Amino acid sequence: MVELALPKNSKITEGRTWNKPRGKGDWREFRVYRWSPDDDENPRVDTYSVNLEECGPMVLDALIKIKSDIDPTLTFRRSCREGICGSCAMNIDGGNNLACTLGMDEIKGTVKVYPLPHQEVVKDLVPDLTNFYAQHRSIQPWLQTETTEPPSEWKQSREDREKLDGLYECILCACCSTSCPSYWWNSDRYLGPAALLQAYRWVIDSRDEATGERLDNLEDPFRLYRCHTILNCSKACPKGLNPAKAIAELKKKMVERRY
Ligand code: SF4
Ligand code: SF4
Ligand code: FES
Repeated sequence: MVELALPKNSKITEGRTWNKPRGKGDWREFRVYRWSPDDDENPRVDTYSVNLEECGPMVLDALIKIKSDIDPTLTFRRSCREGICGSCAMNIDGGNNLACTLGMDEIKGTVKVYPLPHQEVVKDLVPDLTNFYAQHRSIQPWLQTETTEPPSEWKQSREDREKLDGLYECILCACCSTSCPSYWWNSDRYLGPAALLQAYRWVIDSRDEATGERLDNLEDPFRLYRCHTILNCSKACPKGLNPAKAIAELKKKMVERRY
C-alpha cells in the first residue's frame, strides 16, 4: 500500500461497502481512501462498484460517477479533465498519476485510489499542498530583469526558446515530488523535483537577468543537494517530463560557475 502521512495516533481501517454489482455490465471494484477532519474516526478504505459501461473511460470519470450516484461525500480535486490543471493528481493502482488522463483500461482488477503520498490530507483524496506551493513561490517563478530601459518585447532566438521545451509544460501536479523519497523525509528543507524543475526553467531562460541570484538561492546542502538521483520523479511525471535531468543540469551550473 502507498505510504501515507496519517493523522496522529490513527491507523487505516476497513470501511464501508457502499454497493455491489447489480445486473449485467462491466463492473469494477474501487477501493478508496477516506478520512474527514470533521470527526474523530480513523482513516478507512471504502469499497464501491462502478459499471464502466455507464461512465466515461478515465479513472476520474469513475470517481465522478461514484460521487454523483453512490456517495456524494467523497471528496477529491479536479478541474480541467484534460491533464492541464494538475488538480486531480492522486495515487492510483500504486503510482502517482492524473485521474483524468489515466484510462480504466490501463488498470487490471480492483482500482485502489489514495491521496498523493506523504502529504497531510485535507479530506479523502485531497492532499495539503501548502508547503509544495510555498516552495514553488520560493524559487521566484517569474521573469526578472535589471535592464533600465526594457524593450517593448523580450525576444528570444528559436534556439533559446527551444531550451524551455520539456520544462514549461510542467503543470505543478506534485506527482514527482510526492514520489521522491528524499522529499518524503525532508520536504521542510529539500525543494523537491517540481520546484527544482521550475527553478531550472528560469535559470536557462535567455531573457532572465537574475541567474546568479537564482543559483545562490539553491546553494544549500538541502534545497538542491538532497537529490540523490533515485529517478522516481521522472518515472512518475504524467506529462513525460524529466525533473531528474533538470536537477542534474542545475548541479552542473553550480559547478561551472565556480571556474
Ligand atoms: S532524482 Fe532526485 S528528485 Fe528525483 S526522485 Fe530521485 S532524489 Fe528525488
Ligand atoms: S514535473 Fe511532471 S510530475 Fe512534476 S509537477 Fe511538473 S508535471 Fe507534475
Ligand atoms: S482535472 Fe486537470 S489535470 Fe486532471
